[in-house]
Amino acid sequence: MATKISVSNAFKIFGDNPGAAVELLKSGASKNDIQEKTGQIVGVQNTSFEVKEGEIFVVMGLSGSGKSTLVRMINGLIPATDGKIMIEGSDIASCSRQQLRDIRRRKVAMVFQHFALLPHKTVADNVAFGLKIKGMGAAERRKKAEEALAQVGLESWADSYPDELSGGMQQRVGLARGIATEAEILLMDEPFSALDPLIRRDMQEELLELQRSLKKTIVFITHDLNEALILGDHIAIMKDGRFVQVGSAEEIVGQPADDYVAAFTADIDRSRVFTAGSVAAPAEAIDLRSGGARDAIERMQALGRDALYVTDGERIAGAVTYRDLTAAAREDDGAALKEALISDYPAASRTTQLFELYPLAQSGLPIALVSRRGRLEGVVSPEAVFAKLAGSEEEAA
Ligand SMILES: Nc1ncnc2c1ncn2[C@@H]1O[C@H](COP(=O)(O)OP(=O)(O)O)[C@@H](O)[C@H]1O
Ligand SMILES: [Mg+2]
Repeated sequence: MATKISVSNAFKIFGDNPGAAVELLKSGASKNDIQEKTGQIVGVQNTSFEVKEGEIFVVMGLSGSGKSTLVRMINGLIPATDGKIMIEGSDIASCSRQQLRDIRRRKVAMVFQHFALLPHKTVADNVAFGLKIKGMGAAERRKKAEEALAQVGLESWADSYPDELSGGMQQRVGLARGIATEAEILLMDEPFSALDPLIRRDMQEELLELQRSLKKTIVFITHDLNEALILGDHIAIMKDGRFVQVGSAEEIVGQPADDYVAAFTADIDRSRVFTAGSVAAPAEAIDLRSGGARDAIERMQALGRDALYVTDGERIAGAVTYRDLTAAAREDDGAALKEALISDYPAASRTTQLFELYPLAQSGLPIALVSRRGRLEGVVSPEAVFAKLAGSEEEAA
C-alpha cells in the first residue's frame, strides 16, 4: 500500500524562541523543564510515523499531550517548527499557500469534536458546504450531499435543520461532510468525545463499517484507549508531545513499552483485543488415510496433549481424545481411529476475538482454527485463552 502521510522528526514549539527549545529537547530536557526555563511550550517533539493508504492510524493521549497540534500540522494549519511532513509525497512546509489550500480542499478533510453546523442551513447544505468552496454546481452538490448522508444513515434528514437533530446525529453530519469532500485522507480530532457512551459505541461501529467500503486513510485522535484499540490498525500513545509507543492493539496491550502505557492498558478488556491467532498452537494433526489410533496416541504423548485433530487430506475430519482412544485401542487400528472421531468439534478462525471463544472452550476439546478453505491452521487450548487473559503467557513463552 502506498504511503499517504509521512511525518519525520516533527517538532512544534509554541513561543518566541522555538530554536532554543528544540536544542534543549535534543539534549534531553523535558517539556516541563523547557517551559520553566524558557517559557516555550512544547506542542509536539521528535515525532515520526507513516500512514498507509486505507489505514486507520489512531493517536491516543491525555489532554495537552499534543494530539491536536499534530493533526493541525498534518493539514498545514500549523507550520512545524522542525521536521518534515509529507502528504502523498508533497512536502507541506515547502508548499505555496495556494498549494496548501488545494491540499486542504481536495486531499484532506477534517472532522472535529465540536463540529459546528451552521444553524440556518439545512443538513444537506451543511454537508455540501465544503463543496461550494471547491466550485461545484448546485445540483451536483446536492447529489453528493445526499449520497454522503445516505452513507451515515441520515438520508431522510437532508432538509431538516441542525437543531432538530440529536448530538449523535449532528456528529454524523460532520462525518458526512468529511465523506462528501471525497478527500482520501480524513483527519478526525476527537470526533466522538462529546457523545454519550452508547451512541459513541454505535459511531465507532459505524465508522468501521463505513471504512470497509470507503477505504479512506484516517488519522483518528482520541483520549480513550478503548476507542483507540477498537478503531486503530496502528495506535500511537502520545505523552508530552511525543510518541511513547506505536503498535497494533495486540502489541500495545500485550507488550506495553513502559509503565505509563501499562497503566492505561490495565483496565482494558483483553478478551476483545486479542484474537484466537495470538494464542494458537501449531496445527498438529494426524491424517486418517495414513495413521491409526496407535499413531494418534503416540503423537498426543509426544505433544503432551489430550486431544488431537484428524484430517482427511486437506480437510478436517474431526477430533479424537486420548481417553477415547486408549479405551478403544484394539485389533483394527484404523477403524478405532475412525470410530473415536468427534465430528462436532469447536471451530473458530484466527481473527476470532477471545471472548467469542468462551462458549467453545466449554466443549473440553481444543478449538480448531479453520481457514476459509477448511484447512486446520492451529489449535487453541482453553488454558492458553485464560493465560492470555490473565497476561501470564509472556513468562511461559
Ligand atoms: N496556540 C498555542 N499556544 C501555546 N500553546 C499551545 C497552543 N496550542 C496548544 N498549545 C499547548 O501545546 C500542548 C499540546 O496541546 P494540544 O495539541 O491541544 O493537546 P491535545 O490535543 O492532546 O489536548 C499543550 O501543552 C497546549 O497547552
Ligand atoms: Mg485536542
